[in-house]
Amino acid sequence: MTMIESMFDPSHYRNVRMATLEAETLPPWCYTSPAFYEREVNQIFKKVWNFIGREDEVPNAGDYMAFDLVGEPVAIVRGKDGKVRAFANTCRHRGTQILKGSGNCRVISCPYHSWAYGLDGELVGTPGMEQTLNFDKKYYGLVPLRLESWDGFLFLNFDKDAPDLKDYLGDLPGRLASHNMSDMMCVRRREYDLACNWKIYIENAMEEYHTPTVHKASIGKQVTTREDSHGQWDGMHMPAPKTIALLADDLEYAFPPIPSLKGKAATGTYFVVIYPCTFFAVTQDCMWWLQEFPITPDRTKIVIGSCFPRETVARPDFADRVKKYYRRWDKSLPEDNAISESQQVGLKSSFSRPGRLSFHEPVIRDIANWVLDRVLDKKQSSLAA
Ligand code: FES
Ligand SMILES: [Fe+2]
Repeated sequence: MTMIESMFDPSHYRNVRMATLEAETLPPWCYTSPAFYEREVNQIFKKVWNFIGREDEVPNAGDYMAFDLVGEPVAIVRGKDGKVRAFANTCRHRGTQILKGSGNCRVISCPYHSWAYGLDGELVGTPGMEQTLNFDKKYYGLVPLRLESWDGFLFLNFDKDAPDLKDYLGDLPGRLASHNMSDMMCVRRREYDLACNWKIYIENAMEEYHTPTVHKASIGKQVTTREDSHGQWDGMHMPAPKTIALLADDLEYAFPPIPSLKGKAATGTYFVVIYPCTFFAVTQDCMWWLQEFPITPDRTKIVIGSCFPRETVARPDFADRVKKYYRRWDKSLPEDNAISESQQVGLKSSFSRPGRLSFHEPVIRDIANWVLDRVLDKKQSSLAA
C-alpha cells in the first residue's frame, strides 16, 4: 500500500478519536499533504453548505460578486426579481470566466465574444450565431448552483443531493435569533492571503488557550464555556457585560446593545464554527464573521466581514465610532494571522509529530473528528475475513 492510500486508513487516527483530554492532535500531514487536501475538497467542500457572504453585499438588481471556491469559479448575482442566484462562472460558448471581482451589470456579458445572459442566467444574446445549425439559446443558460440564505447569510452548495441549509444549521438559527441578524448590514470586508492550511485558521478561532499569549497586547485572556449544539456547528459562550468588539480602552465608544437580546445573548458573546470553516463572533452590539477560501494545502484566503444593525449604521456618529471597532479587528486579526502562518511552517518539519490537547481545546478535537468522519476510508467489509 502506498503512503497516499494508507493516509486514509482509520488505524492512523485512533488517538485523534479519543476524548479531548486523552486525544492527540491530527498528524502533521493532514495540514500539508496535497492528497489529504484533495479528499477534503471532494468530500467536504463539494458537498456541504459553504458560507460565501451577505445578501446585503449585493443590495441592488444587477449587483454581483465573483469568487473562487476550492477551484470552482462562482458568481452570485441579484436578479430583477430581487432574488440572489449563484452560477458557475463559465460561459456556455467556450467556457470563459464571465464575471470578475464585484460590481453591477444590466446583463451578464461575456468578455470574449459578447454572449449575453440575463440576471437570471438565461442566455439572451448570441451575436454571430445566426447560421449555427440546431442551436437553441434556451439550452445554453448559465449553470445554476444551489444558494440558500439564513438571516441574510448566503450559503452555497455544489451538491444537488445535499439536504437543505435548514437541516445543516440545526438549532443554530434559534440560538442566535434574538440578535435579529436579518436586520444587519455588512459594513466592511477585508481579505488576507495566508500561507496556512484552512484547518489551522478555524482551529485558532475556536480555542481560547492562545489568547493570553498571542493577544496579550490587544484583547487578552478570554474565558468561555461550551455550548450544546445540534447540526453542523459547534460553539462557545463568553460571559461579558458589554461588547467584546472593542479594545478595553475604547469601551466608552460602544454602540447600544441590540434591544431584542434575550438570555445568554444579552450577557455575553457567542463564538461559533459552522463546519467546515466559517467562524461567527456574535456580541451584544454587532457580529463579525471569518470566512475561509482554501486555495492549496498551505494557502487560504481569509475574509473578515463586520456587521451592525441597520439602526446603528444609520446613526450620525456611526462612521466615526466604527473606527474604534475596526481598530480592534485590525489589531487582533493580524496576531492570529501571524501565529497561523508560524504553525504551518512548524508543521512542515519532517520531525513534527502529533501533540496533546488542553482542557481549553475541546473544539480542536471535534474539528479534527468532523474532518476525519468525512475523509477517511470506511472500514473494510468482511470480504477479507
Ligand atoms: S467564450 Fe463567452 S462568448 Fe465566447
Ligand atoms: Fe485569536
